[in-house]
Amino acid sequence: MQYIQISGKKQLGGEIALHGAKNSVLPILAGTVLIDGTSTLHNCPDLSDVAACCDIIRHLGGSVSRTDDVIFADTTAITQCEIPKGLMEEMRSSIIFLGSLSARCGKACMYLPGGCKIGARPIDIHIKSLRTLGYHISFDGSNICCEKANAKGGSVTLPFPSVGATENVILASVLLGGVTTIINAAREPEITDLADYLNSAGAKISGAGSSVIRIEGVARLQSAEHTVIPDRILASTFMSAVAAAGGDIVLKKVNISHLSPILPVFEEMGCKFFAGHGELKIKSPHRIKSVKRITTGVYPSFPTDSQAPVMASLCTAKGSSVITETIFENRLQHAGQLSRFGADIVVSDRTAFVTGVKNLHGAAAYCTDLRGGAAIIIAALAAEGDSQIYKIHHIDRGYENIERQLSLLGADIRRKYDEKEQ
Ligand code: UD1
Repeated sequence: MQYIQISGKKQLGGEIALHGAKNSVLPILAGTVLIDGTSTLHNCPDLSDVAACCDIIRHLGGSVSRTDDVIFADTTAITQCEIPKGLMEEMRSSIIFLGSLSARCGKACMYLPGGCKIGARPIDIHIKSLRTLGYHISFDGSNICCEKANAKGGSVTLPFPSVGATENVILASVLLGGVTTIINAAREPEITDLADYLNSAGAKISGAGSSVIRIEGVARLQSAEHTVIPDRILASTFMSAVAAAGGDIVLKKVNISHLSPILPVFEEMGCKFFAGHGELKIKSPHRIKSVKRITTGVYPSFPTDSQAPVMASLCTAKGSSVITETIFENRLQHAGQLSRFGADIVVSDRTAFVTGVKNLHGAAAYCTDLRGGAAIIIAALAAEGDSQIYKIHHIDRGYENIERQLSLLGADIRRKYDEKEQ
């Protein structure tokens, strides 16, 4: 059994390049099945979720290989239209294959997706939206079958700007005969990245990044080459780490505009920034200040995925912070694990009241989910003494070789192997 060992209270320093965005590469990989040819995707992080996505494409009849951070996906010979339970349950993003596979094969069947247990995560918006395009869907609560039938597109108004549903509608509509409009679409940078990739293959998508996206169907998509955007959540994780442990680091391969929802929070903590030429230097004060209120929301509000890492750093702040989670109903589970390090957090419904303490101490704790796991690592980096972090498979879903990356920044962190997990 693997776990992570951290000896805390080491100031961070040095440079680190961000890897590509997990939340971009997964829908883009789902999009490869629409293509009659090869997709060459640069800047792909080596994550277990990415490997799971590649396994799905192979199962469908595609061939996928990887050299360093480049994935080559040849999807010319897609033959399968069913994704088995085991592959679907690896991650949440497997649901994004619903739109692309139904469009490509005329029919797709799959099981409910897995993913982090941070809320109920229904797929009602996905299903209703694809039905509006003309797809026929049967869903018995576990198995979903979607048939293209005479689908020809249409106007879809999302009741909530769901990231996954927006991606599914885009993928389901690029090869339809008509025009599709998505109203109240998600505006996350990863949606724009998906559209850029599909447009480079010949799709006609406009308005991605705004609330209204227009997709004009095309007959065929051809081979494409695309570079995945840098991971803004990884950036916020490193920034939280340096805010908690102290020091100054330089993040390379950064898209500063994607960080605009989170920079003000770190400014309020008293961190200093120097940005330019795709780099961001962040310097932590001797002790960070609390942040009055953070409320997660859809882009361009503060991202729910950054909430846990930022909470971990605020555990060490001077003063009290209030953090409200509005996107997922059960995304404060890490608070209980952070308390093991001596953090003072009171959770009421979807709000965490964090009173900063001067010193955290080392502890044994486990990762509750992907971003909650990052929060636990950050608490251990800031803590006096040694910590052991268990259930790290959650972290490997979204952070490439986290121990190596943090070691490069001066952390004393290593992956270890034990016979049992706590
Ligand atoms: C994506 C991201 C995830 C991020 C989230 C919100 C990927 C791979 N994952 O997840 O990291 O935390 O966006 O930014 O990109 N909802 C419904 N019905 C639906 C769909 C969603 O009620 O059919 C609800 C969800 O339960 C949740 C909210 O809408 O409460 C947001 O979900 P959504 O935007 O769809 O997130 P994901 O695409 O799952």
